This record gives sequence, C-alpha cells and structure tokens, in this order.
Amino acid sequence: MAKFPERVFSGVQPTGNLHLGNYLGAIKRFVAMQATHPCIYCVVDLHAMTLPHEPAQLQRTTREVTAAFLACGIDPKANIVFNQSRVAEHAELAWVFDCVARLGWLNRMTQFKEKAGKDRENASIGLFNYPVLMAADILIYRATHVPVGDDQKQHLELTRDIAQKFNNDFAASIAAHGHGEAYFPLPEPLIQGPATRVMSLRDGTKKMSKSDPSEYAHIALTDDADAIAQKIRRAKTDPEPLPGEVEGLARRPEADNLVGIFAALNDATKEDVLKRFGGSQFSAFKTALADLAIEKLAPIRAEMLRLAADPAFTDAVLAEGAERARVIARPNMDAIKDILGLVR
Ligand code: TYM
Repeated sequence: MAKFPERVFSGVQPTGNLHLGNYLGAIKRFVAMQATHPCIYCVVDLHAMTLPHEPAQLQRTTREVTAAFLACGIDPKANIVFNQSRVAEHAELAWVFDCVARLGWLNRMTQFKEKAGKDRENASIGLFNYPVLMAADILIYRATHVPVGDDQKQHLELTRDIAQKFNNDFAASIAAHGHGEAYFPLPEPLIQGPATRVMSLRDGTKKMSKSDPSEYAHIALTDDADAIAQKIRRAKTDPEPLPGEVEGLARRPEADNLVGIFAALNDATKEDVLKRFGGSQFSAFKTALADLAIEKLAPIRAEMLRLAADPAFTDAVLAEGAERARVIARPNMDAIKDILGLVR
C-alpha cells in the first residue's frame, strides 16, 4: 500500500446534548491528537438529518457542538473545524461511493438496525446510507486516522472496504492519472483508552447515549456541579467493594464503567485507579469520582456557556474552517472525477 501523509478526521453529530461518552470516547482524544497530527474536526449536520429533525434545534445544536469542540481545547487556528453541509464535496463523494458500496455491506450495519427499530420500511434512505456519507467525510480528505468511540467500529470497517474497492475497481485509471497504486488510504480507526464505550449510569450493560429517556443515565457536558454530583451519587453499583485488579471488574459492568470513567478523566489506566481504590466502598469512590468529574468538566461548561452567548464567533469559526476544508476537498474531488471518467 502506498504511503499517505498522516491526517486525522473525525465528526460529531449535532443531535441533542453532548454527554460524557462523547467527551471521553471522542472529543478529549481529538484534543490530544492535535499535538501530533494535522486534524479536521467536523460537525456532521447532514448526518443529523437522517432521523426526523427540527430546523431551529439543528441550528442551535450545531453551534453547541462547535462550542464544545473549542471549550474542550480544539484549536481552530491550528486545525480545521467546520460543519459538513458547507462543503458540498462530502455529499458529492457520497454519491460516488453509493455506486461503489454493495447493498449487502449496508444490510449488515447494526447501527441502522438499532436506529430504524421495528418499522424499518419507514426509515429514511439517508439513515440507511449514513455509513456511506461517513466514508465520504473521511476519504474526501484522504484521512489516515480516525479517533472514534467503539460504536463506530463497524462504520470504519465499511469505510476501509469502500476505499479498497474503489482502489481495486479503478486501479488502471488511478495509475494512468499519476496517483500510483491507490488513490485512497485505508483509514485506521483509533479506538483507544479506558473509555471507548462509556455505559449508562443506570445500567452498565447499555451504552450511554443522547437518546436515553432517563436523565440520570448520562452526564451532559452542560450539567452543573450539583447535577454531576447527584448523577454520580445515584449511579447504579453492586454491593461489593472495588477489586484490586482489573480482572476483578469482569461481570461487574457498573463498577467497570465507573472505574473507566475515573481513569479517562484522570489520564490514567484502570490499573492505576484500582491501585488507589481497590478495597474501597463505592460511597468513597463515588465522592472522589464526583470531585474529579466536576474539576474536569466545570471549566468546559463555563466556556461553552460563554461561547453560547457569542454565536457570531462560533459561526465565524465554522465559515473559516469550511473554506480551508474546501481547499483540500475540491482538488481531491476533481481528481476523483478524472479517475472515474466524469468530464469536467
Ligand atoms: P456521534 O455523534 O454519535 O458520537 C460522536 C463520537 O462520540 C463517540 N461516542 C461514545 N464514545 C464512548 N462511549 C459512548 N457511550 C459514546 N457515545 C458516542 C462516538 O463513537 C463518536 O466517536 N457517525 C458518527 C459521526 C460521524 C463520523 C464521521 C465520525 C460522521 N462522519 C466520520 C468519524 C468520521 C456518530 O454518530 O457520532
């Protein structure tokens, strides 16, 4: 496989409240990647239309995710921050990939099955097509690394399959146009750290998600200190003290989840946390966890509130980011059109 310059791409949907899972599984890791890679971070508003949506809310949540990116420490000068719908090449490449991806591949996507529910006939075509647009998001920039939570693993595998099939199907044309043996890299999913799958605080077997009806199931990035403390205090646990070793967390999903959250917030490992809290009762551990969560999340919340009062600023960040994204996306799309034999 040809060598591609390293570039990071990832996205977050502007649907509802961002929660601790989005932060620890994704955004906190986006921040860390800035030290080593050029990064492109996208508010994927087109993806947010795959389920019924309310226009005024979409506008608000697009600004809110942008504010969260900035408040968490993403630097929009050093890197690119923009909203997907502003760069038409995402949708343009998604059509190309619709003609590359196979129906059978899409039929295997578990997230579609979950989101469509029982009434699958009534799901939007966009919801079915969601992972193809996601592949286009990544590959229009020929990104090589994609930090995501565990729930996006299957979508990343599909992205690699699409890239591979495009490279194979059009190999002769790719070479003839001077791109060597492959036009697209096979992007590497980066699913790392102690919190790749943060679970509900009410049920350690269910993923923490924006759509959980119980308010106590998730910690929102906009929760204040009292709400955070209360949610952690009420989090489901089991009656045993914490184990001294990671193996002791097996079959204890709630304990495993809280230890993972502590570790991720503290830039530590689960081993480190158990070294300190092994043998402790949950009451003591929960107090320490609440203090830590408040210490780490309060400054983010304050900055999000400050930015929410200044939508002109976040809008300007998105507009400028989109211009810089287009500078990469447009020539790539033109090259892809040439490879495909589309006259331009
Ligand atoms: P979204 O908006 O559902 O979630 C954004 C990021 O948060 C991660 N995440 C979690 N991580 C750990 N524990 C959880 N409970 C948890 N819940 C969510 C997600 O894995 C994700 O990384 N399809 C994507 C958005 C997208 C995208 C892309 C991502 C569109 N195009 C291209 C990467 C590259 C999504 O729905 O994310």
